[in-house]
Amino acid sequence: RPGRVILSGIQPTGIPHLGNYLGALSNWVKLQKSAEPEDKLLFSIVGWHALTLPQDPASLLTARNDMLAVLLAIGIDPNRSILFHQDHNPHHTELSWILSCIAPMGKLRRMTTWKSRLATARNSSSEDEVDESMLNAGLFMYPVLQAADVLVYKATHVPVGDDQQQHIELTRDLADIFNRTFKGTSPLFPLPTYVNTPSKRILSLKDPTSKMSKSSPDVQSRILLTDNASQIQSKIRAAVTDSIRALLTILKVARVAKAYESQGHGTLKRDVAEAVEEFLKGPRAQFNRIRHETTYLEEVARRGAIRAIEHSEVTMMEVKTRLGL
Ligand code: ADP
Ligand code: NA
Repeated sequence: RPGRVILSGIQPTGIPHLGNYLGALSNWVKLQKSAEPEDKLLFSIVGWHALTLPQDPASLLTARNDMLAVLLAIGIDPNRSILFHQDHNPHHTELSWILSCIAPMGKLRRMTTWKSRLATARNSSSEDEVDESMLNAGLFMYPVLQAADVLVYKATHVPVGDDQQQHIELTRDLADIFNRTFKGTSPLFPLPTYVNTPSKRILSLKDPTSKMSKSSPDVQSRILLTDNASQIQSKIRAAVTDSIRALLTILKVARVAKAYESQGHGTLKRDVAEAVEEFLKGPRAQFNRIRHETTYLEEVARRGAIRAIEHSEVTMMEVKTRLGL
């Protein structure tokens, strides 16, 4: 079979928590392991997308380097996969503009991510008449840029969470509109497939009805990839038992499951904390090492950008030819 082009991205918005790791990033590493030699893998740190929310420049710079170090630390191999900063390849924004010129406004308005932004803006305002003017146009265009991320590499497989499925459908729609509007000898863009990664929803340590999230103001509700053993212990000790039970199921620690049946919550929490520590200590040690190797990180980013641009260059030339540019 022809090789797949697998692409996924993550925003550089701080050190990932256990939910990001188990729910998204660990799947990238599994994909890298299971991919055939002819498959191409592209993993992108999507800085342009991060700009849709207010960012402190110094923090953004740190977060971009943190995320690159995290991806290397968990096992993304920059020789096997193309690991790069989205904002290092100008083709993403170029194609995004082109796609925005064929993207129906109505379709963008129907994106649930946009609708929930609007709902949040409405809820947070005391005025009766609150509308789109409270939100920036970047948030509205977010899925078009994401479509460009995918199509610029002619990606065929996009592993993302459930919340992103609608964006992949939009990507297919935009690819199809482009293909039909600018017919050449053959359709330019393959229609990408949404790959639903087995969703392991990690719950907030403080509230089992919501997921672990970086947007929660309570830092005790999440375990970061870089937390040390004593931070893990104290967060789990203070956690709600239902969240810990759910975590236990996901970590599938038989030893701990047994302990839970026979012993009290204290023992359960201690064992789960040990299991989490066991799970995170490798990546954490790698992160602490790599994060300080500034020259290495720069080199990885530079090589990633060159390889990414090599791939998208051909597509952009084809796109421009079809458009008459
Ligand atoms: P957050 O909710 O912390 O802001 P993002 O929305 O940036 O995280 O999500 C980044 C990736 O991590 C997405 O693929 C998302 O599906 C996944 N993810 C986020 N939180 C969790 C969680 N608690 N459990 C499992 N996966 C998660
Ligand atoms: Na989020």
